[in-house]
Amino acid sequence: MIHPNSEISEFDIIIIGATGDLSIRKIIPALFKRYADGQIPEKSKIYCLARQKLDNSSFTQKISQQNKIDFKNSKILKEFFDKINYLCIDIKNPDSKNLFSLQKKLTKDRVRLFYLATAPELFGVSAQFIRENNLANNKTRIIVEKPIGKDLISAIDINKALNSYFDEDQIYRIDHYLGKETVQNLMVMRFANQLFEAHWNNNSISNVQITVSEEIGIKGRESYYDSYGAIKDMMQNHILQLVCLVAMEPPSKFDANLVRDEKLKVLQSLKKIEDLNEICIGQYGLKSDDEDQIASYTQDSKQHDSKTETFVALMAKIDNWRWAGVPFFLRTGKRLKTRASEIVITFKPIQHFIFDKTEKNNTLPNQLIIRLQPDEGLKILLMSKEPGPGGIRISPSYLNLSFSDTFKNKIPDAYERLLMDVVRGNQTLFMRKDEVEAAWSWIDPIISLIKKNNRLPETYIPKSWGPISSFDLLKRHGFEWCEPDY
Ligand code: BG6
Repeated sequence: MIHPNSEISEFDIIIIGATGDLSIRKIIPALFKRYADGQIPEKSKIYCLARQKLDNSSFTQKISQQNKIDFKNSKILKEFFDKINYLCIDIKNPDSKNLFSLQKKLTKDRVRLFYLATAPELFGVSAQFIRENNLANNKTRIIVEKPIGKDLISAIDINKALNSYFDEDQIYRIDHYLGKETVQNLMVMRFANQLFEAHWNNNSISNVQITVSEEIGIKGRESYYDSYGAIKDMMQNHILQLVCLVAMEPPSKFDANLVRDEKLKVLQSLKKIEDLNEICIGQYGLKSDDEDQIASYTQDSKQHDSKTETFVALMAKIDNWRWAGVPFFLRTGKRLKTRASEIVITFKPIQHFIFDKTEKNNTLPNQLIIRLQPDEGLKILLMSKEPGPGGIRISPSYLNLSFSDTFKNKIPDAYERLLMDVVRGNQTLFMRKDEVEAAWSWIDPIISLIKKNNRLPETYIPKSWGPISSFDLLKRHGFEWCEPDY
C-alpha cells in the first residue's frame, strides 16, 4: 500500500542511451519496482531511445535477460513492459520517422523526464537534441548522473552545456548515494533529535571516519575505470556527499536550495591538502593461494602498466567554527575485505574518569556508528557496568538500532526514490552545479599533488583493508581505523 505522501502525478520518461548498463540494470528495474508497488500512475509511459536496431519485444527481452526480475510476477511484468516503447534514434543523426513518432506520442501537459543515460560527453548533445527537436514541454526535467566531468574544467563545460538548453531548476544531477535510505536518515538523525546536536562539534568529537569498501573489482568497466580511479569515481562524489551530510549546519527549513546551500558551505570549507603524506593510494594486486584466486587490477583492466588507484585514504579537514581541528579520515577501495559503508563518529574521552582505569577497555570513548550498507542501522558504543557482584567492572556495550530488521523489505533502491523525487520536482537529493564544481575544486589539487610527486599506488592484497600506508596515516595522528564489524 502506497503512503498518500508518495503519490505522484502521471509522467512520461524518455531514456536516452536506453540499451546501456545504467538504463537496463538500474533505471528500468527501479521503474518496475515502483510500478509493481502501485506508485506509477497507469497512463505513464517509458520511451527508450538508443542506436541499436531493436523492437519492443527484443528490447524487453534484453531487460529480462540482464536482470533477475521475478518472473512469477509475470502479469505485472507484462503490464509494465507494455508501457515501454523502444525507438531506434541516434541523437546525433535522428531518423526523421522515429523522431516524428516520438514527438507525436509524448503527452502535452504531462511531467516529462529525460534521463541522459549516456557518457557525460553526450550530455550537451542530448540536451541540444531535446531542445532542437521540440521534445521539451514546460514540465521537462533533465536527469544526469555522475561522473559530471573528470576535473573542474570539464565539469564547468558540462554544466554550461546543460544550462545553455535548460534552467538549473530543471536539472537533476544524481549521486545515487543521496538516494540511499540510511544516507537520508543521517539528516533525520541529526536534525530531528535533540540528543546529538549539542555534541556535534569539535568540543566533543575527536575524529570522523567514513569507509566505503567494496568486495568487487572493476571487471566489465575497465575502460571507464582506468581513466578515472577511486578518487574521481568515489571520493569526489559519494564520499564528499557523505562528508557534507555529516558536517553541514542545519538549514532553516528542509528546502532543496537551503539544504544544498549548507552542503556547499562544507565543500567550500574543505582545507586544501598540501602534504602528500595525508593521502594514500593503492591498487589491488594478485591473490593466489589455497583459499582464493583473485586477479590483480592490471589483469582485470588489461592495462599491464596501469597506475590507476583502486583505493584511496586521506585525512580531510574542515576549516570552520564547528569542525576546526577534527580530522575526517576518508577511505574507499575495490576488492577489500568486505562490502561495507560506515560512518564512525568517535567522541573525545571523558575529562575526569572516576572508575578504575587499569582495566583494559574500560575507558573507551563513545562512538556513533552509522551503517549505510549492508545491514543498515545505527549503533552507539556506551560504557556500562558488567552485571554481578564484586565492585564495578565496566565494559563496552552497544545500543543497536537495526533499520534492516525494523523496516524489512521497506528499504528501496536509491534509484526508486530519486526517480520519484524528479517526478515530484524535489531537488533536495540532487547535486547542484556549484556543489559539483566545489567538489572538483578540492579534488583537482589532490590529483595534481599525486602527479607532481609521481606517487604510485601501493599494491594491496585483495580481501584486505588496503595498503599498509593507510594504517600508518592514522597512526601518525594517534588514531586507528575502526574496521566494520560484519
Ligand atoms: C558507483 C561507482 O558510482 O558506485 C562504482 O562508479 C561503485 O565504482 C558504485 O562500485 C558503488 O555503489 P554502491 O551503491 O554499490 O555502494
